[in-house]
Amino acid sequence: MERRTIGAAALEVGAVGLGCMPMSWAYTGSQQRGEESLRAVHAALDAGASLLDTADMYGPFTNELLVGRILKERRGDAFVSTKCGLLVGEQHIVANGRPGYVKRACDASLRRLGTDVIDLYQLHRADPEVPVEETWGAMAELVAAGKVRALGLCAVGARSGRRTGARLHDGTIRQLRRVQQVFPVSAVQAELSVWSPEALDALLPWCEARGVGFLAAMPLGNGFLTGTLKPGQGFEPDDVRARHPRFTAEMMAANQPIVVGLRRIAQRHGPGVSEAQVALAWALSRGPHVVPVPGTKRERWARENAAAAELRLTPEDLAEIAGLPGAQGSWD
Ligand SMILES: NC(=O)c1ccc[n+]([C@@H]2O[C@H](COP(=O)([O-])OP(=O)(O)OC[C@H]3O[C@@H](n4cnc5c(N)ncnc54)[C@H](OP(=O)(O)O)[C@@H]3O)[C@@H](O)[C@H]2O)c1
Repeated sequence: MERRTIGAAALEVGAVGLGCMPMSWAYTGSQQRGEESLRAVHAALDAGASLLDTADMYGPFTNELLVGRILKERRGDAFVSTKCGLLVGEQHIVANGRPGYVKRACDASLRRLGTDVIDLYQLHRADPEVPVEETWGAMAELVAAGKVRALGLCAVGARSGRRTGARLHDGTIRQLRRVQQVFPVSAVQAELSVWSPEALDALLPWCEARGVGFLAAMPLGNGFLTGTLKPGQGFEPDDVRARHPRFTAEMMAANQPIVVGLRRIAQRHGPGVSEAQVALAWALSRGPHVVPVPGTKRERWARENAAAAELRLTPEDLAEIAGLPGAQGSWD
């Protein structure tokens, strides 16, 4: 697989990564497919998809333990990216960016992952009660201590601003400017996909101009862009899509033209090319600093997603995707 070098720390990873979240969190059946999940991670690594994206809160904790089982055998093949700063409580998920907490969280992640060093340590969400510079300073000390190789910032929850006319990631960029004063950001993780392209406006160019890598989260639109989900199919209450405004039967039907467009392009590239692969190839084509992290707990899909690194979309394909209707259904 093509390798991509990202960020101030010149991190080298396979062009497509693997999002490990669905193995333990947010999707129906998470936590119940341990052995299949392990096979999925092996398949991704075999194909060169080295970046394994996890977080302490996925599970919570069980996702890092699962990744740790793989690292025991294959630390050299994997690039581990994990996250701190969110705590799963009884009722709510709360942010904690206090320096002492961040340092303890890192030690706990290292233990669960069974490794001496985390390749990319990401701040999952900034804590509104703690100046982000303080949290980031503590994370920088983890780099100095040799526990972490590089730092990343997540901006997946960014939603504010659309109603006021601001761009989705204006707040993210303000936050990035602040943390850059303290220690270099090696990667930003934010949603980027054919149906959620907002990061293209300002965030992606901001990263590219500064040599910051971009991890494209939810590059398959939580599975919608793969064409395997049917309008009205319903989701279990523990599945994030049961509450997602784009996954009502009405919105899934309204957004079908996007999937149909991806399917048309896939078919032009020949048998065996999937909508998912076209969606991932589109993300890859957004810049050499972009590494999509499609999530799956299935071996077959991990292999299929990794193979998207070989798919080259033509200028006609890209123009066709640019001309697809915008997605309907929004959190705002
Ligand atoms: N930083 C953050 O706050 C944040 C937030 C969200 C996500 N992320 C990261 O981004 C990663 C990706 O996001 P995501 O997993 O939510 O969304 P996604 O990658 O857009 O889609 C995942 C869904 O697509 C399905 N899928 C995957 N490959 C497929 C294929 N080839 N064909 C058909 N279906 C396929 C998966 O099914 P199965 O589950 O059945 O395999 C899963 O339901 C996460 O794993 C996580 O690492 C980060």
